[in-house]
Amino acid sequence: MRGIISAVSTAFSVLLFTSQPAASQDGDIDRLIERGRSVAIAGDCMACHRTAEADGKPYAGGYTISSPMGPIVAPNISPSKEFGIGNWTETQFVDAVRNGVSPGGYLYPAMPYTAYRGMTDQDAHALYVYLTKGTKPVDEAPQAKTDLPFPFNQRILMLGWNVLFNSAIPFQETAAAPGGHERGKYLVDTLAHCGACHTPRNLFMAENNDSYLAGGDVGGWHAPNITSDAVSGIGAWKNEEIVAYLKHGNAAGKSQAAGPMAEAVEHSFRHMPDTDLEAIATYLKTVPPVRAEGQTTPGFARSDAKAADLGQLDYGIDRDPKAMETGTSTNGEQLYVSACATCHQVNGKGTQDHFYPSLTNNRAVGGMTSNNLVMAVVDGVHRKTNDFTVQMPAFGEELSNAQIAAVSNYVLHRFGNEDLHVTEANVITLRNGGEKPLLVKATPWLMAGSVALAAIMLAASAFVWSRRRSRKHAAHEANPGDLQPLKR
Ligand code: HEC
Ligand code: HEC
Ligand code: HEC
Repeated sequence: MRGIISAVSTAFSVLLFTSQPAASQDGDIDRLIERGRSVAIAGDCMACHRTAEADGKPYAGGYTISSPMGPIVAPNISPSKEFGIGNWTETQFVDAVRNGVSPGGYLYPAMPYTAYRGMTDQDAHALYVYLTKGTKPVDEAPQAKTDLPFPFNQRILMLGWNVLFNSAIPFQETAAAPGGHERGKYLVDTLAHCGACHTPRNLFMAENNDSYLAGGDVGGWHAPNITSDAVSGIGAWKNEEIVAYLKHGNAAGKSQAAGPMAEAVEHSFRHMPDTDLEAIATYLKTVPPVRAEGQTTPGFARSDAKAADLGQLDYGIDRDPKAMETGTSTNGEQLYVSACATCHQVNGKGTQDHFYPSLTNNRAVGGMTSNNLVMAVVDGVHRKTNDFTVQMPAFGEELSNAQIAAVSNYVLHRFGNEDLHVTEANVITLRNGGEKPLLVKATPWLMAGSVALAAIMLAASAFVWSRRRSRKHAAHEANPGDLQPLKR
């Protein structure tokens, strides 16, 4: 009976559905696709799910994320039936995006599903419709495959990780007003996953929520403290400055976006509506402040007294950056004047229009770490904004590690935080993706430890087993009559 009722009601709803005017259906789908597109932009799915080259094919996969455990390749999530998600049901898709469980097994958290877990049902549905109906299938497999070393290749390990670290984050249905605090929180925590980079990670590489948004490492780069603290965070920034930074990658006289933040600005934030960027700024100002130990001056507010007299000096040194191609000097001053001063000026003040930024009022130089200064010299700065392209050349090939350390120390000493000192070894570590987290460093020990543990457990169980046997045996010997009844 129930079967009949449901069959009838399905038929009825199909009838209702199909009898809708076609235009309104298309309108609904179009609106859903449009909403899904904006979710994909805020979620920056394209940053990873593209081919490896700079303007890679959308959603084709193949881009490699260098995780501390080894390279992890983002898969094809285009609607290709053979290589992408063309045959996935919505449930499978949503399970992958929110819970990190794909039909192929448990996903590594290099895919930020711990953040997307908070995605509303409506946004998840729109995202599925957009990716399956609003994008083009790419019928080819990504160029590379993930192949992590043991024990990290055991995806089942992620089950335990998820129980520990992905269950505590509550799922939230957000009915947030545009531009408001709640909308900002939803964007920061869920769609734009700011914490994936800006929150430090614990021993097991899960975000440490006691230091929420207080600064984390992404490869060799440092994603700074963006809590509301006025000294260590962005509490002293005007909301308009935060919006300008997210939209253009530059807050004049304070900071600019290079490395992974430049990519986030280019692919995601600059395409978001102003109301969303304002909502983010409003929300960030309410994040509990976290002060870095010993910091008394904001990174962008270092005194530039030491730089003031430099403009007058005539070094008589070749200022052509090409001079570096053959140079082997490790004199920081000489390196600065020939490689950097053409744009940042001898006195470090850059150009008035901030196109070539001042190094004196600059968090990358005056903050509590020199990682981004070193990485900017190694990799350069590349960013498309809505109006123009920002380019600083990469010096990673032209300058040796010792030269990069020398010019960085000159810049720190003259224009920024002179308590910091860069060594050649620091440069090598940063170039290779930064300090390895403890877990990875400890893996050989953990493995040795678990082998030892397994051996001890084996030995212990063998011992218990043999004890039981021998006790039985002893009991049998002491009381042979035990078994006698059977014989009788
Ligand atoms: C920071 C990089 C990154 C971002 C941003 C990202 N992903 Fe992923 N995604 C990955 C990686 C890496 C994997 C594969 C993980 C693995 O191998 O365990 C993955 C896996 C997936 C899978 C499973 C595919 C399969 O074949 O198993 C889906 C679906 C997916 N992502 C969808 C999305 C969507 C939708 C977004 C945007 C809302 C998104 N991803 C944003 C890196 C990312
Ligand atoms: C993929 C990693 C990543 C993501 C995601 C990310 N950031 Fe960043 N962010 C960085 C890095 C790295 C820097 C430093 C850039 C530099 O110095 O060139 C940075 C810098 C910043 C700064 C400048 C802070 C200062 O003191 O100079 C702000 C503000 C900021 N990010 C806000 C955000 C917000 C808000 C979000 C989410 C909406 C976000 N970021 C998402 C990596 C990231
Ligand atoms: C051809 C011009 C040019 C040269 C030469 C140059 N820079 Fe830059 N630099 C730029 C531009 C452009 C930016 C980014 C401005 C922006 O993001 O709006 C930049 C940004 C920076 C930043 C900020 C990076 C960050 O992550 O916030 C630092 C630090 C820096 N340069 C240091 C140097 C040093 C040191 C040298 C010499 C080894 C140098 N630059 C050479 C043009 C140049």
